[in-house]
Amino acid sequence: MSFYEDKIFPFFMEYATRVFRREIAELIGSAEGRVLEIGAGTGANLGYYSPGVTEVVGIEPVAAMLEKAHLMVQKAAHDFPVKLQVGDARDLPFEDDSFDSVVACLVFCTIPDPELAAAEMRRVLKPGGKLVFYEHVASARPKVHTWQKRVNPVWRKLACGCEITRDTRQLFESVGFRYESIKNFEHPKVPPLMAPIIAGVAVK
Ligand SMILES: C[S@@+](CC[C@H](N)C(=O)[O-])C[C@H]1O[C@@H](n2cnc3c(N)ncnc32)[C@H](O)[C@@H]1O
Repeated sequence: MSFYEDKIFPFFMEYATRVFRREIAELIGSAEGRVLEIGAGTGANLGYYSPGVTEVVGIEPVAAMLEKAHLMVQKAAHDFPVKLQVGDARDLPFEDDSFDSVVACLVFCTIPDPELAAAEMRRVLKPGGKLVFYEHVASARPKVHTWQKRVNPVWRKLACGCEITRDTRQLFESVGFRYESIKNFEHPKVPPLMAPIIAGVAVK
């Protein structure tokens, strides 16, 4: 990882995503039991888990981000264990059917080969287990989508792999998730190219 990815981007990411946190906090409150958070980043979501959680396992490929996440764990002082480890959502080092909930927030924009990661999340979830998600996605408005495609190559470089053109709603369905609830909306406080959001719960 480069100096930019390790030291500069995490601060930019935390600042740029602050606007989503209240909604993410509400959504994460529905995660329960043994939880896997993929792409846990700097641990921005670790304070949001409710008492219905028995354990949180966070995986994140960038070790420098996890260092910050460890500080969040200390601050949150949960009653349940929180384990953080370097890992890749495309190859999860966990048994089949071993989590009650998987949390994916602002991460399916960035994972390369998102199909692999989506299939892995489903594999490790117990039957009936929940995928709790909050993701920015491709716009359904043709003009905005055209601009997303134009800007995407530059944005991907600046934002360490983040893409603004992904159809994550379709992706989750394609690996077998069934939506229990889904909100599809344009966030009023972010620029139009990042504004289309999907948020909700899907079930294995
Ligand atoms: C925009 S950040 C969001 C971080 C965190 N989920 C949050 O809500 O603040 C995207 C995260 O996805 C992580 N990521 C990228 N590729 C990944 C992969 N293959 N597996 C798991 N996480 C990945 C990045 O390192 C980064 O921490």
